Amino acid sequence: MCGIVGYVGSEDAVPIIVEGLKKLEYRGYDSSGLAIYGKNNFNVIKQKGRLAALEAKLEGRCISGTTGIGHTRWATHGEPSDINSHPHLGSKNKIAVVHNGIIENYKQLKDRLEKKGIRFVSETDSEVIAQIAEHYYNGDLLDTVIRVSNALEGSYALGIMCLDEPDTLLAVKKDNPLIIGVSDHGNFIASDVPAILKHTNKVYYLNDKEIAILQKGCVDFFNFEKEPIKKTPEIITWSPESAEKDGYPHFMLKEIMEQPKVLKDTIHSAIHSGENKNIIKNVNISCFNKIVITACGSAYNAGVVAKYVFEKLCRLSVEVELASEFRYKDAIVDKQTLVILISQSGETADTIAAMREAKSKNAVTLSIVNVLGSTIAKETDFCIYTAAGPEIAVATTKAFSAQLVLLYLLAINFAHKLNKISDEQKDELIEEIQTLPEKVSALLDDVKNIQHYAADCIGYKSIFFIGRNIDYAIALEGSLKLKEISYIHSEAYAGGELKHGPISLVEENTLVVAISNCKHLHNKIMSNVEQVISRGAKVLLIGNCPQGEMNDKISFMPLPEGSELFSPSLSAIVLQLFSYYVAANKGLDIDKPRNLAKSVTVE
Ligand code: F6R
Repeated sequence: MCGIVGYVGSEDAVPIIVEGLKKLEYRGYDSSGLAIYGKNNFNVIKQKGRLAALEAKLEGRCISGTTGIGHTRWATHGEPSDINSHPHLGSKNKIAVVHNGIIENYKQLKDRLEKKGIRFVSETDSEVIAQIAEHYYNGDLLDTVIRVSNALEGSYALGIMCLDEPDTLLAVKKDNPLIIGVSDHGNFIASDVPAILKHTNKVYYLNDKEIAILQKGCVDFFNFEKEPIKKTPEIITWSPESAEKDGYPHFMLKEIMEQPKVLKDTIHSAIHSGENKNIIKNVNISCFNKIVITACGSAYNAGVVAKYVFEKLCRLSVEVELASEFRYKDAIVDKQTLVILISQSGETADTIAAMREAKSKNAVTLSIVNVLGSTIAKETDFCIYTAAGPEIAVATTKAFSAQLVLLYLLAINFAHKLNKISDEQKDELIEEIQTLPEKVSALLDDVKNIQHYAADCIGYKSIFFIGRNIDYAIALEGSLKLKEISYIHSEAYAGGELKHGPISLVEENTLVVAISNCKHLHNKIMSNVEQVISRGAKVLLIGNCPQGEMNDKISFMPLPEGSELFSPSLSAIVLQLFSYYVAANKGLDIDKPRNLAKSVTVE
């Protein structure tokens, strides 16, 4: 949510910032803006709407300069409008600020400043930062930023420029991501790697309460005591092309198609070499009497799948909690609990809060994260990384699939350590997991059926997803994926629950997607299918064990053979393609669905 890009160097800052902001569009935004350092003033252009509107406004204005900050805003305080867009300036036009996060005490600060005669022009919480910075400014920007940071309550990643300090950018963060990139021609601040990947793969991750001062040839880091700190850069292995559409109409389709490689790389990282393998091998599961998995959205759904796999293989009790619930429920966890946090971004506010809550109760934390150096990756006791590369589409696909395989591999290793499976069983299960990339590849080689089927589904008002056991877990993800990008109402239910209420919603114009990979439950789910058909529904049946005659009410998408435990990885592919093609046929903005942000960094 919100994106920040800043540049100080020898090149023209405007195109670098605009291009960087485009790479952050996936984070979700409703307006954008930039400020370029001029000799006597800041050139500020702000515009409600898409970046194209900002570009149109920039056209013909001849703004040039080699230092600047830019921002994409996802409105929280104050409607999307030109005036509420960032950067914000203090009333003396001396300090310019871009902000990602929420300032919880902005009202108190604003009241105080207004009493001193300072006039605010926007409705945002962020403007207070520029105003108070100007108010505190004593000729030393570092001093000022420390003082401002100490006055702020809430979360922030900030890019700051001061008219009195030419060719200088300041960056500071607390509970929101901010990275510093260094290149030969200049240095950068950004909310995420794709924004600067074209220019550099050498990146410093700012920790909370660290400040970076960037100039053309140098970056210096300080803590809030104004002491210099030494930081080591990370080298990002993602290629610049991985953040491009590469000829696909949408990032989502590109990312769906990348899954065979992502699965292969992620599996490889966990069973052949490196840190993932060591962690999976070394976590001593016998120390724990329960596992709690907590996450949001699709990552939560991966946790629901994992509950079935862990319980089946390890015979250990597993609870799955939405992070937004876990953080406030006074959860019963202690040092004998392993809390697993799942997050693509590693920056989801609720998941971070859940992690800190678990740690405060002495639980051991293990995270599954995609973004290197993110808050969750850094703060958990153990972190294993999905090898999904940058995921740009708001709707997660490849990161979800990578999370699933890491969870399966964790479950297998834990089960083996707990003596619940033999050496041979372990080897067989791992061997089967290694067949997943090929099976996924086969599904992706033949998308015509699902594409045609989805084209006929754009008129449905409601689509229900049903399954039993692990098929129910993946039905949750199918339903989430569909509703977020196609805006068709959908719900997922355990098949057995239909008759306890939801079946009253089934009528003539209803589609029910039934998933069937659990052999022992196939007849049960087929009874549910009969029940909904007799009430006028049409059914899309997805799975590897349907038997018997299909008819004009049932369309069937077969999945490759395999054990039910890993079948969610295959169902997921068909469900992702189904959602994608429904949304594509509706002509929707698939990569940036309305109201959604890729990285939900505020509560
Ligand atoms: C759905 C989706 C979201 C995320 C959720 C958690 O397609 O992408 O539901 O899964 O916002 O995000 P992370 O995994 O970054 O914590």
